[in-house]
Amino acid sequence: MINTYIPYFKARDRVTLNKCLKSNFVSTAGPLVNKFEKTFSTKYKFKYSVALNSGTSALHLGLKAIGVKEDDTVILPSYTFAATANAIIYNNANPWFFDCDKNFNLPLKTIEKILKKETHKKSGRLILKKNGSIVRAIIPVSTFGKKLDFDNLLGFSKKHNLKILFDTAACHDPKIFNFIKKKEMNFCFSFNGNKTLTTGAGGMFSSNSKSISSKVRMLANVGKKSKKYDYETVGFNYKMTNVQASLGISQLNNIKNILNIKRKIFNNYNKYFLNLKDIKLITNQNYINWVFAVMVKSYKEFKKLQNAFIKSGIQMDLFWKPLHLQKPYTKFKKSNLNNTHSIWKKVVVLPSHPGLVVRQQKKIIKNVLKICK
Ligand SMILES: Cc1ncc(COP(=O)(O)O)c(C=O)c1O
Repeated sequence: MINTYIPYFKARDRVTLNKCLKSNFVSTAGPLVNKFEKTFSTKYKFKYSVALNSGTSALHLGLKAIGVKEDDTVILPSYTFAATANAIIYNNANPWFFDCDKNFNLPLKTIEKILKKETHKKSGRLILKKNGSIVRAIIPVSTFGKKLDFDNLLGFSKKHNLKILFDTAACHDPKIFNFIKKKEMNFCFSFNGNKTLTTGAGGMFSSNSKSISSKVRMLANVGKKSKKYDYETVGFNYKMTNVQASLGISQLNNIKNILNIKRKIFNNYNKYFLNLKDIKLITNQNYINWVFAVMVKSYKEFKKLQNAFIKSGIQMDLFWKPLHLQKPYTKFKKSNLNNTHSIWKKVVVLPSHPGLVVRQQKKIIKNVLKICK
């Protein structure tokens, strides 16, 4: 079976892991968590990073730290992984689902129009006319690990007095983060096994704000500021372990190589698919770094491709299913989602992990060319 994604481990990952096991520092106490945070901050140009047990935890605590409170409303795209919405709900706040545009970004102009119609301003805050809920924050999502227009999104959030938390769970190319971050910009990363850089499971909250990142650290450390049993608040046990951090460090040391291998795979797909009428390459080729995604003409074509793939032993499934269509989320507020409805059954994620060999990629390309002209 050719899997959509498998992690990429080298001898150095095994050596670092073994070293960590030998040290007996396997829990959240241990020197490597701190080292991983520092190395990550340096590589991705942040002042502060807090290593956590998942990307979901980073979103949950990130929202809490920026001030999302009970009954608030938070803007997000419907086309995302469940964690983006769950983190809002864990904070007893309400997701407000929006469409994405053809480039998988939040359509800011449309959102602005809808905000104008459905909210009024009170003490500088946007309030939902319908139920008085404060529209507190916005979570832009980096779909397929694509680069976001961070400055423009921050401008939008400031204009409407919204806090901003970037869900860059799968966006692991340091080049994308090579800019000076404003203090209001907060970022969440995932290092789950299906991500470019993995710690098995794990996540990171990164920011240039000392107060916000200290708050996330305290909340993740069972509500403690120090190592003693003195609690500031009812916290969470969300810290990353030393074992995960050891893997994180060796993966970080190899990230350039991992991204280079993936770029070659992406370029090869590009070469074959660029001129096909039936296929649209949907991610900015300069900045994709997680999975290679394309859009086919119709769901019928998706099914045809899926059948061909299954026969050839290639994994292929629908990618994200819009959240507003699913049972746990139907009760939450949503705005026009026309584009989301039209695209989600046409998105094809092709195997693009660094372990994919030439022979396997040839097989995938051959199957695509058989179905798509
Ligand atoms: C967009 C997005 N947000 C959040 C997450 C959650 O990360 P984790 O699985 O580490 O909790 C993921 C994971 O795939 C994701 O794709």
